[in-house]
Amino acid sequence: MVEKMSLLLFSFLLLSTGNGVYSFGEKKLLSLNTFHRKQQNGVPSCFPGKSRRGNGATILEMRHRDYCSGPITDWNERLQERLISDEIRVCSLQSQFKNMVSGQIQDLSHTQIPLTSGIRLQTLNYIVTVELGGQNMTVIVDTGSDLTWVQCQPCKLCYNQPEPLFNPLISPSYQSVQCNSSVCHSLLFATGNLGICGTNPPTCNYFVSYGDGSYTRGDLGSANLSLGTTTVTNFVLGCGRDNKGLFGGASGLMGLGMSSDLSLVSQTSEIFGGVFSYCLPSTEDEAPGSLILGGDSSVYKNSTPISYTRMVPNPQLSTFYFLNLTGTTIGGVNLQNPSFGKAEIIIDSGTVITRLPPSIYKAVKSEFLKQLSGYPTAPSFSILDTCFNLSRYEEVEIPTITMHFEGDAELNVDVQGIFYSAKADASQVCLALASLSYEDEIGIIGNYQQRNTRVIYDTKGSKLGFAKETCNFM
Ligand SMILES: *[C@@H]1O[C@H](CO)[C@@H](O)[C@H](O)[C@H]1NC(C)=O
Ligand SMILES: *[C@@H]1O[C@H](CO)[C@@H](O)[C@H](O)[C@H]1NC(C)=O
Ligand SMILES: *[C@@H]1O[C@H](CO)[C@@H](O)[C@H](O)[C@H]1NC(C)=O
Ligand SMILES: *[C@@H]1O[C@H](CO)[C@@H](O)[C@H](O)[C@H]1NC(C)=O
Ligand SMILES: *[C@@H]1O[C@H](CO)[C@@H](O)[C@H](O)[C@H]1NC(C)=O
Repeated sequence: MVEKMSLLLFSFLLLSTGNGVYSFGEKKLLSLNTFHRKQQNGVPSCFPGKSRRGNGATILEMRHRDYCSGPITDWNERLQERLISDEIRVCSLQSQFKNMVSGQIQDLSHTQIPLTSGIRLQTLNYIVTVELGGQNMTVIVDTGSDLTWVQCQPCKLCYNQPEPLFNPLISPSYQSVQCNSSVCHSLLFATGNLGICGTNPPTCNYFVSYGDGSYTRGDLGSANLSLGTTTVTNFVLGCGRDNKGLFGGASGLMGLGMSSDLSLVSQTSEIFGGVFSYCLPSTEDEAPGSLILGGDSSVYKNSTPISYTRMVPNPQLSTFYFLNLTGTTIGGVNLQNPSFGKAEIIIDSGTVITRLPPSIYKAVKSEFLKQLSGYPTAPSFSILDTCFNLSRYEEVEIPTITMHFEGDAELNVDVQGIFYSAKADASQVCLALASLSYEDEIGIIGNYQQRNTRVIYDTKGSKLGFAKETCNFM
């Protein structure tokens, strides 16, 4: 009966289609087939990622690491692991926020979370390929840190990676950064740790801790970095000689944080104007997404106009992109909550599930349950506590979720970003949002809710934009 009604509605009010998903205003039709896991044959060729130039921008192919890691044998386990890692990332971010706000130097022995070394970086899922000193390097994209680094020869402790280690000695443009230079001094701001002078040669040694036991340690250098066909001369990066963590086979990390002189965004600001954007594909999609450097909007494939919101400055946590969440609409119903417009919230490429202040989450959950009251519920799954057993449906009408930001900007969550299915048979399908533990913790807009959206970071204009886009590299 439910299905028949949906189909009837759909034939009158169809607005857009794509991947078996139909939307009509305040409800979206979700085909539960999308949760049937496709089995990949062999490891797809993800290394190296492609790149191309389009008008005034450089476009890098962006892949989800799970897609590149080959066939996943146990989906249920993988789905659970992903949420556990995500929770650890969020805990380590929250402790980093607290330390930075209180001005404490991180005491590593206490911020380490045992047994799960490096897991925060395991959730950093999206990778792109750049060329450094003539060598291809596939790196993780992180909007939550500033310093870019790669594993470097000779290496004291390097984790396994499929690509050869970067060898500065055979890179014609590589130069060591001097310890008495201003670049070396900017490390404190970029990483929270002072640059330390090496002896003989007087290198500028850095240390970045990601708060969960994973770290990179090495010395700063500069080299020509090619992003697609664009070359950045003397790009400053970390040459990591001692790296620990589950970096998942990537050769290093690209720091797209907002603040310091060392972030890729600032180092390329003369070329790209301080603007980058991405479209994150879902894990299972064969179509890749893209990371676009530069603000030429003619290269975007957005299907709705871009709506912009102000980036809220936060001097103590200047690496992170803070926004002002002013409201949330569930299936057309506008939620009322005193925390809207007040709660601190960041947008992050590395956190999976969006974390909302408890009072806002409660309001979302209760409205969502109300609108889906016709469907049987299912037990909680890890951090997700609003679950349904939809195994006997082929498709369901689900409420749309729209997040509103200062300046009338809207993030319309893609239908693929509303539910997280714990089981391939749809017997445990959960609302893909979670609550923070405390009202005063910092909220996070996670990457699951940013899927199939063009997210534009304009650091010079201090604004962030959203537009609907079906991710594709070409
Ligand atoms: C880097 O990858 C590109 C393909 O994207 C390939 O054409 C090129 O030869 C590679 N460069 C090196 C040095 O391996
Ligand atoms: C680095 O890039 C600059 C500018 O493109 C170029 O002039 C220089 O020759 C390059 N250095 C090397 C060693 O390739
Ligand atoms: C840094 O030290 C080197 C010698 O070790 C010296 O030649 C150079 O002028 C110094 N640079 C600065 C900025 O002080
Ligand atoms: C967020 O936006 C609302 C509506 O424009 C405004 O009233 C409020 O002061 C803003 N909050 C912050 C922290 O800027
Ligand atoms: C889900 O519902 C179906 C019937 O619609 C039932 O057979 C199945 O046992 C339920 N599964 C769980 C895990 O509750």
